[in-house]
Amino acid sequence: MAKGGPGTGFFSRNRGFAELTKRFHEQDLAAFVDRLARDPAPSLLEIGCGEGRVLQDLWLSVPHLRLHGLNKAPWQAMEGGESLRTRIVAEGLRTADEAAALEPPDIRFGDASALPWADASMDVVVSQVAIHYVARKDRVLEETWRVLKPGGRAYLHVDTWKHGAPDFLRGETPRFLVYDGDDPLPLRKALKRAAKAGFDVSVATDASKKKVETFVLMRKDRREPLQLGWTFDDASSFDLHRLHTNDLKYETYWGYRSVFTV
Ligand SMILES: C[S@@+](CC[C@H](N)C(=O)[O-])C[C@H]1O[C@@H](n2cnc3c(N)ncnc32)[C@H](O)[C@@H]1O
Repeated sequence: MAKGGPGTGFFSRNRGFAELTKRFHEQDLAAFVDRLARDPAPSLLEIGCGEGRVLQDLWLSVPHLRLHGLNKAPWQAMEGGESLRTRIVAEGLRTADEAAALEPPDIRFGDASALPWADASMDVVVSQVAIHYVARKDRVLEETWRVLKPGGRAYLHVDTWKHGAPDFLRGETPRFLVYDGDDPLPLRKALKRAAKAGFDVSVATDASKKKVETFVLMRKDRREPLQLGWTFDDASSFDLHRLHTNDLKYETYWGYRSVFTV
């Protein structure tokens, strides 16, 4: 496979359910999905589903789970639910007849700042290595809360930085910055304001590897809409790809730096 092509290096868009549950091990995503699987018609949404490997794994292992995915745009490795049907046959996971009898995941395309699903329609919302790229991360959080059913949970991987990254990429969440006046407010503090208003929204980190990963976790315990009320600072926000030159490695400068003020 060509270097940098689908499934390799920084273009990797093929992480499956095992990698997702490993990432959320401390938060016990696997146990929650196991519990959900005992319900009659549970629903799961993945934001930024890439090749749709998480959806494919769950489709084949928990067939009654209603699966939904959002990705920015279709691409050669995933053009929607039907392409997953083609793939499971090509990969020898199901025969053509078996695959024809299955209802494929509902995969839609668009920006994650607006989730094209109804209020209170999902039992669980998950995301890994995708929210990094979205400009309006405030809206992703508000929209996630909106589509969750009461009792539902969200496991969102919102940012990553690597040791050795340049200073400006070493904050708690370098792609997700909230300022109170001139002072940066750690994301956990910014979200504590929502928690004080009664929303079960929190931040967790995993610093056990060479990378530090940040997650936003939600347990929807009330129907009121989550309204963060932050102002998006358009002038300070930008696509980090714009920093890419021959001297600066893409691996460091990726994602979208989103800046907000409270
Ligand atoms: C690095 S890939 C990761 C894909 C998958 N979650 C995985 O871990 O393998 C990032 C994904 O986010 C999607 N994405 C980027 N910006 C997005 C946006 N604004 N809204 C929705 N999806 C987006 C990309 O199309 C891509 O599939």
